[in-house]
Amino acid sequence: MNKFNIENLDLYYGDNQALKSINLPIPQKKVTALIGPSGCGKSTLLRCLNRMNDLIAGVKITGKVTMDEHDIYGNIDVSDLRIKVGMVFQKPNPFPMSIYENVAYGLRAQGIKDKKHIDSVVEKSLRGAALWDEVKDRLKSHAFGLSGGQQQRLCIARTIAMQPDVILMDEPTSALDPIATHKIEDLMESLKKEFTIVIVTHSMQQARRISDRTAFFLMGELVEHNDTQTIFNNPQDDRTQGYVNGDFG
Ligand SMILES: Nc1ncnc2c1ncn2[C@@H]1O[C@H](COP(=O)(O)OP(=O)(O)OP(=O)(O)O)[C@@H](O)[C@H]1O
Ligand SMILES: [Mg+2]
Repeated sequence: MNKFNIENLDLYYGDNQALKSINLPIPQKKVTALIGPSGCGKSTLLRCLNRMNDLIAGVKITGKVTMDEHDIYGNIDVSDLRIKVGMVFQKPNPFPMSIYENVAYGLRAQGIKDKKHIDSVVEKSLRGAALWDEVKDRLKSHAFGLSGGQQQRLCIARTIAMQPDVILMDEPTSALDPIATHKIEDLMESLKKEFTIVIVTHSMQQARRISDRTAFFLMGELVEHNDTQTIFNNPQDDRTQGYVNGDFG
């Protein structure tokens, strides 16, 4: 079953076409990796999935993106969409407040006040992000006191707390050391049991290790998409072969 279907999607920043007739299904509760050289449109495509590009002036989009068979560019509540489709960025961006308040933030913004309920969501989310054991004794401490890797897991916990269906991740480990990266990669295995994950990565090893499906982009075009094994071991297109072999990009 597909969570998203992207059909004939074109995206322009002014006169510059950044996505060219993209057709890509994104399966539910799997990890889909978007790979390709810098500037090929990975982040742009990721932002199409929760309409973050709406916030950029001069963007024009044609084509169709459906989520659970509903057109997300049709008449929908965009803030609702952004709750269902959460996002984690390249640089950990915790809010300037305590660990606890970071995770509780979205619930409070929704007007939820029941402390017991918030406590339980905070714990569940921190457990879900494999951070609970490291922070359970210092929930009131400032989030900036955490390491980079812990901050990134806190951002994942903050996203989980909103009970999304989908988590978008744009190079979530590129600012982290190998050990912190490994922890996040391990976390993916458990996250995909519950969420659909779309991740942009520059690391071929990472795409291989954690993704079920891989899509390879070049200059705004989707060259090829398939199960990850096939993309890396038996790609159909020479350009994919060249990229996964490290010949360019
Ligand atoms: N806000 C923007 N305004 C104008 N052009 C943009 C904007 N964001 C991206 N672009 C252009 O769109 C194209 C695709 O950019 P995008 O950021 O999606 O690439 P990417 O694959 O994520 O690259 P990287 O791997 O370097 O992050 C590039 O030519 C880029 O310059
Ligand atoms: Mg990018």
